[in-house]
Amino acid sequence: MKYYQGKCVYITGGSSGIGLEADRMLASSGARIVIFGRDLKKLEAACNEIETRVVSPQQRIFKMQMDVSDHVDVEKKITAVTKEFGVPDILINSAGIGHADYFENITYEKFNEVILINFYGTRNVIAALLPYMKQRGGHIVNVSSMLGLIGIFGYTTYSASKFAIIGFSECLRSELKRYDMHVSVFCPPEVDTPMTDYMAGSSPRETRALVRMTGLMSAEKAARILLAGIRRKKFLIVPGFLSKWFYLNKKLNPALTRIITDMIVTFTKQ
Ligand SMILES: NC(=O)c1ccc[n+]([C@@H]2O[C@H](COP(=O)([O-])OP(=O)(O)OC[C@H]3O[C@@H](n4cnc5c(N)ncnc54)[C@H](OP(=O)(O)O)[C@@H]3O)[C@@H](O)[C@H]2O)c1
Repeated sequence: MKYYQGKCVYITGGSSGIGLEADRMLASSGARIVIFGRDLKKLEAACNEIETRVVSPQQRIFKMQMDVSDHVDVEKKITAVTKEFGVPDILINSAGIGHADYFENITYEKFNEVILINFYGTRNVIAALLPYMKQRGGHIVNVSSMLGLIGIFGYTTYSASKFAIIGFSECLRSELKRYDMHVSVFCPPEVDTPMTDYMAGSSPRETRALVRMTGLMSAEKAARILLAGIRRKKFLIVPGFLSKWFYLNKKLNPALTRIITDMIVTFTKQ
């Protein structure tokens, strides 16, 4: 992927899952990378591994401990990183947490945490970086989900955060054109990462059955499609045939989507 050679890429959530897989590919394509996350041990392990994949002595890999949901922390750390590492050509907002349960089981605190990390986290990093990025152009990529396009049983808080990212990205795309900047939003189906294992713990049976409709994608495939979509400057990146089919079906025939999902819920309920 020659496109990424010499580019400076910031990735929130780059210490695990889709973000980590993207780091690996970017490192072997010659990009300079900064990864952000909360857990220092995970960041260090990811950095050490990514460093083994660099292809040129000019390439630097840098890590920064940062909680995207804390806007004060984000402003401080982004200012420090841009001084040390330079302004990114590409920002990938992949940091996020998952949660699935019946709405009545989700406490206010859990609901708030998901929205704060997934949605405000995306907002906070962009708000902190925009003053630098808008001076030279660049590309902002927000990781939403298929669950940001279709709301299903069990995902009230997660889907709300991911729908918000899509609306936010649509507005931002239009606004940032005047700075010669691009915005993309990535909407993968279920991907095989630590988040998926964590979500399985609280997911209702009905939710598991519904999620299986679009299949489980490998993190490697998701990251490959993400990076190809960025290179082509696509706004909406929806990976996989089944995901595209469900998205199109929801757009063209939302009633049919409701009928299909309601039927699956009826057949799988306890
Ligand atoms: N896996 C799926 O099925 C799937 C499907 C569609 C969309 N997505 C989206 O894809 C993105 C990546 O998910 P993944 O599956 O790769 O999950 P993952 O393996 O659990 O990775 C999540 C990453 O986000 C970081 N993170 C979480 N909260 C953070 C915070 N407050 N501040 C900074 N970093 C934080 C984590 O590091 P720390 O915990 O150390 O902070 C980790 O590096 C998420 O936005 C997720 O919603 C995932």
